[in-house]
Amino acid sequence: MKSLSILIDNNRKWAEQLIKKQPDFFRKLSLQQSPDYLWIGCADSRVPANEIVGLLPGELFVHRNVANIVSHTDMNCLSVLQYAIDILKVKDVIVCGHYGCGGVKAAIEDTSHGLIDNWLRSIRNIYHRNAAEFVSFSTESDKLNKLCELNVREQVLNVANTTIIQDAWARAQKVAIHGWIYDIADGLLTDLGVCIESKNDLAR
Ligand code: CO
Repeated sequence: MKSLSILIDNNRKWAEQLIKKQPDFFRKLSLQQSPDYLWIGCADSRVPANEIVGLLPGELFVHRNVANIVSHTDMNCLSVLQYAIDILKVKDVIVCGHYGCGGVKAAIEDTSHGLIDNWLRSIRNIYHRNAAEFVSFSTESDKLNKLCELNVREQVLNVANTTIIQDAWARAQKVAIHGWIYDIADGLLTDLGVCIESKNDLAR
């Protein structure tokens, strides 16, 4: 247990610092949350959602899984999305991938990784569907990074095509879905320019 006690100590210091700046911070937060954004990102420890966009507890609703996949049969992800849209009424959903994603890399490797290969199967499909786009890349890391970007675009479309988002738009609730990518090598985010705000955007 000794090794974990440092985490509890860190927690005490972290809470103290926040209270120093704003004495009623936690009391206020305990009454309600009203985040403006939903973040769907990779579970990778190097991509901590709140930190990289400078947001405090209460400011970002977060769902993370391996390779930031939005699957229409994943009750976990869909439940987070439904709560974010129907109850919290977030106006922006950010799907954020990252370069060098181990999940994306594993998806196109020929070796077996066990159960997770089932989860990553849809990314392998993206790779095969877009095979022509990869011809011009000479290095494996360039190929991987291109696939990381294509995966974000695919997951943005998957969010937009959920009944949750379709229903929100049908009742004129404003929701935009954005595709971003994070570079773990320099800590910077890039907007991939795939914002979808309506059924019309999807049809394009
Ligand atoms: Co990843």
